[in-house]
Parts: sequence; structure tokens; C-alpha cells
Amino acid sequence: MSYLNYFVFGIYPYIALSIFLLGSLVRFEREQYTWKSDSSQLLYRGQLRLGNILFHIGILGLFFGHMFGLLTPLWVWHALGVSHGLKQMVAVVAGGLMGAICLSGLSLLIYRRFTNARISAVTTTGDKVLLLWILGALLLGLATITQSVKHSDGSVMVLLMMWAQHMLTFQGDASSFMLGAPLLFKMHMFMGMTLFVIFPFTRLVHVWSGFASVTYLVRPWQLVRRR
Ligand code: HEM
Repeated sequence: MSYLNYFVFGIYPYIALSIFLLGSLVRFEREQYTWKSDSSQLLYRGQLRLGNILFHIGILGLFFGHMFGLLTPLWVWHALGVSHGLKQMVAVVAGGLMGAICLSGLSLLIYRRFTNARISAVTTTGDKVLLLWILGALLLGLATITQSVKHSDGSVMVLLMMWAQHMLTFQGDASSFMLGAPLLFKMHMFMGMTLFVIFPFTRLVHVWSGFASVTYLVRPWQLVRRR
């Protein structure tokens, strides 16, 4: 069991991140015509605006929430006077809210993609796997709330923060923090890490472009001359 724990939480995260970074680079280099979000708006607009907006608000909120919550060092929270219990409560409320928004949008997107004939015709197996994988990770993430409320002192949350920070700083003992974590968290984290593995092979590559589009705010003026 402890070897499996070491592999999934000590080695697999680096495999996943390597595939994510190198895979994205290779796809960008070799397959630029496939680098897109593959919008289905022209085929069928129904449920798209509401579903897509709710889904993206939720998933981006969860993404930044995870980064901020897991990677902010403990001493920062101590300096700000924020107790572990308070941080845990904020995480449960904010994560639960964003998760619910994301789930409602994702359900609409899955419904239209699986029931509309025009959209089904252009939907690949990869599209289906992606949506269902995100759904699985999301449902497991929401289910972890049942565990978090049992540890309202934030002790499990601190273990997860330690794991993430030790992983990112290449400290060999990262997986040891996961030994005592409840199974639901482990399953949620495996599903989440695997999203990085499938990322370069799906339409998810549009996320890079989404973030890169922020550079438009500071791009140089476009010069237009008469002749
Ligand atoms: C960074 C900012 C982002 C932007 C600007 C963006 C933009 C878009 C756009 C324009 C579409 C196409 C909608 C249509 O059918 O017309 C789309 C679809 C999609 N996006 Fe994003 N996105 C972003 C981040 C993300 C993130 C973080 C995820 C999740 C991990 C994600 C997952 C998806 C998925 C799964 C679809 C396909 C939905 C479907 O099956 O219809 N996006 N996105």
C-alpha cells in the first residue's frame, strides 16, 4: 500500500506535469490547426451560453482557489492571523459554491453534447472522455466536503498543503503526507492529476490560449499607415 501511495503521490505528479508541459509544446509545434476550443456554437446554440458560462466561472474559480489554497505557505496564514479552522471553512464554502456552479454548467454541456444529433456527429471519443473525466473529478471533489467537515480543525487540509508544497519544491518526502489522508481525497487528486495527462491530447489546450489572451491588455499599438 505504501509503495502505491509513493507512486501515485510521489512520482505520478511529476509524470503528469511532464506530459502536460512537453505534450502541450509538441502539440503546439506540430498540430497548430487542431489547437482550438472547437466551439459548437455554429451547430447548436441551445444551452451553450448558460452552460458554458456557468462551467467556466466554476472551473476557473476552482482552479485559482486550489492554487491559492494549496500553495500559499503556512507562515503567510499565520502572519495574517488566519487559523487552520477558518481557512478550512472558507475553502469548504468557496469550493462548494464554485463546485456547484461548475456542476450545473457542466451538466448542461454534457446534456447538449450527448443528446443533440448535430453536436454528437462532431463529438470525438476524446471529447466525451474529457467531459466525463471532469465530471468524475468534480463529483469526487464535492464529496470530499463530507470528510472536511469531520476535521473542522483543518488538520487534513494542512496535510494536503504540505504535500502540494513539498511536491512543487522537489522534496522527496511529499508522498508521506498523503499516507493518512482519507480515500476520497486520494481519488479526487488522482482524477485531478490525470486531467493534466489527458490535457495535451484534447481541446483543453485552449486553456493556454485563454490565459495567454490576457497579454492583449499590454500588447504594442498596431500601426496603420495610409501608404
Ligand atoms: C483560460 C480561460 C478559458 C477560456 C477563454 C475558455 C474558452 C472556451 C471557449 C470559447 C469554448 C468553446 C465554447 C463553444 O462551444 O462555443 C470552451 C469550451 C470548453 N472549455 Fe474552456 N476556456 C477557458 C478555460 C477552461 C478551463 C480551465 C477548462 C477546464 C479544465 C475548460 C474546459 C472547457 C471544455 C471541457 C470545453 C468544451 C465544452 C463542450 O463540450 O461544449 N476551459 N472554452
